[in-house]
Amino acid sequence: MSDKYAVFGNPIAHSLSPLIHTFFAKTLNEDIEYGRVLVEDGGFVKAAEAFKASGGKGFNVTAPCKIDAFNFVDKLSEAAKTAGAVNTVKFTSDGVLGDNTDGVGFISDLKRLQIKLEGADVLLIGAGGAAQGILYPLVKSEAAKITVVNRTASKALSLAQKVNSDKVEAKGFDSLCGDFSVIINASSSSLFKELPPLDDSFIKKAEFVYDLAYTKEGSTVFTQKAQSLGVSSAFDGLGMLIMQAAASYEIWRGVRPDVEATITYMRSVLSSR
Ligand code: ATR
Repeated sequence: MSDKYAVFGNPIAHSLSPLIHTFFAKTLNEDIEYGRVLVEDGGFVKAAEAFKASGGKGFNVTAPCKIDAFNFVDKLSEAAKTAGAVNTVKFTSDGVLGDNTDGVGFISDLKRLQIKLEGADVLLIGAGGAAQGILYPLVKSEAAKITVVNRTASKALSLAQKVNSDKVEAKGFDSLCGDFSVIINASSSSLFKELPPLDDSFIKKAEFVYDLAYTKEGSTVFTQKAQSLGVSSAFDGLGMLIMQAAASYEIWRGVRPDVEATITYMRSVLSSR
């Protein structure tokens, strides 16, 4: 019988994780089954227990269940403790382990794309769940300074206060000043094909632009805008999605999938939809 995994969340029908993990397994010549579990409101523990009882080896967790997963596991990795959230659960004979691969997925993708964080002044757009997930990894990276900017400035401020680091400051778009070599769009603006209200002058001066949203073309409205303003290194976030999945796969099975081949495969899957 194949080893059984799944992704838990709500909504979950849109999740690309089953396609990604099935492709990992196929290219590694491993036999796994990877499904989707729709978690009803308040139903996380029951769903997790049922999955375990059915022989599940582990599962991924997406919104809105990452805190439920954090509370559910017996043991937390350092990454999960720092993030305060779990996206990877593994059932072992020593109990239930909770990890978080979002941060490592994000940083590994920036490395893959040769986005330089050393000494960088980073502008992080957005203050929702996605921005929160990458702010800690950015603080721990070699970036010199991280400015969080958000449409609702008060939310940028509360997010910055949570990390409590002198590398981080919060701004509204109106009061933004300075030069940023790396701009990361962690707002959900691209999902609505909207642009954040960021003045072109900031984008023009950036060396790298990265959007957490992704599309079949590999560009978003935001990366397209950056390219039109002369930023040639502007990338979407599909690589991050696949990097975090690869890190989960490695936690479960001890082998590293081929990330580049999976990115190519997923672009072709998205294009055929
Ligand atoms: P996610 O889990 O994707 O982070 P979220 O927690 O709902 O989603 O947060 C969405 C983020 O995108 C917020 O920072 C939101 O800004 P507000 O706090 O001002 O609402 C930001 N956002 C969404 N649409 C945007 C737009 N068109 N321009 C700028 N920011 C936008």
